Amino acid sequence: METIQYKKLKFPQHGDSRGHLVVVEGGKDVPFDIKRMFYIYGSDKGVVRGRHANRKSEFVLINVKGTSKVKIDTGKKVEVVSLDRPHEGIYLSRMVWKEMYDFSEDAVLLVLSNEHYDPEEYIRDYEQFLYEVNQKDV
Ligand code: TYD
Repeated sequence: METIQYKKLKFPQHGDSRGHLVVVEGGKDVPFDIKRMFYIYGSDKGVVRGRHANRKSEFVLINVKGTSKVKIDTGKKVEVVSLDRPHEGIYLSRMVWKEMYDFSEDAVLLVLSNEHYDPEEYIRDYEQFLYEVNQKDV
């Protein structure tokens, strides 16, 4: 069976006359228990963030304000996904190369992960990523 490498997600919204409330529960709305969250803001339009793959971390990216794009590269296929709704996100498995870019001025990109931060599990060299991702197929 082919493992899922990325997947668009929609989160439950509880809007009423007071405004909106979006719920993201670990193990329910995202396919892992949440150990880490961080958020990115103040990135100019021309900036490209990410440019790495992770040996252990899975991520869910949610643009809670503004818009951005993420380029997802599995080593076999490349897809660009627009993140432009606060109740939608994208799940990224281990071993996908990601680049986040085209940030709107007001963009706040929220990121959830199943792992604590460990710089050793980041692959920041694209050739190394291709080497490791192709090794897995052997
Ligand atoms: P970086 O990985 O370059 O950000 P991104 O790829 O998401 O644009 O991280 C920027 C800095 O923040 C770098 O010094 C490492 C640090 N950092 C942490 O300390 N913990 C974390 O969970 C993350 C994602 C980054």
